[in-house]
Amino acid sequence: MLGNVLVTKPVFPEMMEFLNSQVSIDANLEDRVLSKQELISRLQAKQGAVTLLTDIIDREVLESIPDVRMICNIAVGFNNVDIANASRLGILVTNTPGVLTETTADFAWTLLMSAARRIVEGDSFARSGQWKAWGLQMLLGNDVFGKTLGIVGFGRIGQAVARRAMGFSMKIQYYDSLPVPPESVPPGVREVSLETLLSTSDFVSLHVPLLPETTHLLNDKTFALMKSNCVVVNTARGPVVDEKALARALKSGKIAAAGLDVFEREPEIEPELMKLQNIVLAPHMASASRETRLKMCMMAAENLVAGLRGERPPNLVNPEALGNRRH
Ligand code: GLV
Repeated sequence: MLGNVLVTKPVFPEMMEFLNSQVSIDANLEDRVLSKQELISRLQAKQGAVTLLTDIIDREVLESIPDVRMICNIAVGFNNVDIANASRLGILVTNTPGVLTETTADFAWTLLMSAARRIVEGDSFARSGQWKAWGLQMLLGNDVFGKTLGIVGFGRIGQAVARRAMGFSMKIQYYDSLPVPPESVPPGVREVSLETLLSTSDFVSLHVPLLPETTHLLNDKTFALMKSNCVVVNTARGPVVDEKALARALKSGKIAAAGLDVFEREPEIEPELMKLQNIVLAPHMASASRETRLKMCMMAAENLVAGLRGERPPNLVNPEALGNRRH
């Protein structure tokens, strides 16, 4: 056996089967997030942890788990782990990029279309018996085809969202704070400043990681730049949008609609957003297809096993930890 490992929440049986052949597992079988104290105590004498984005691995946790060598997040995002301190302590952190790109892009489009064409409102209108007759001006939404899509963050997922937009003959523009390799930018897609993107797009879709500089990227000031027909989609991380400012923008008609998969204080949703009809709310499910979630689990397991074998795990997010790696 390669070591002792904590799996913080129930995962797919296929992953457990694979891990069981390699490591000794302590699995939390309850569908509940472990508290900080539980995490610390169950990570004693463990060499690895398989974590979810709901596990907050902060400095205090990291400094209290002297045997842990690997933290393998089943997610592409890793803002739940204090990377700087993990690196300082020589703990390798991995994520699951790539396998969820297309599924997440599909879901960003699901939200975009749902918010633009008011399908959730339409569904409750139809179910509740309010539909009495076909109406020429009933549930009018916004066209999608031919409009301008602004993608904030043009990495893997942003690019996959752009590919789909081509089928809708959209004008596509992106903003990224980092240079994007020219071969990743399809012909016709243009790079613009954030200000231009926000002030000229009919749809704005967010695909940035959560960092201090992306926190509240959309706020009262940036909503004020947007077109009144604009639809905002967030499948990135909740705190990228100031939810109170979003509620104000949606309520006052500053923007038309929104589709959110992620929230500032999950699973809490800002009460002011809950009151609005022009928003589609999803419970952080953009990568939730069976195939993709299984691939994410298997990728995390492979990262863990490679790391515990002393190899460089394929999806290491903090290579700077290799220098003082724990053995
Ligand atoms: C989901 O939000 C992920 O980061 O994989």
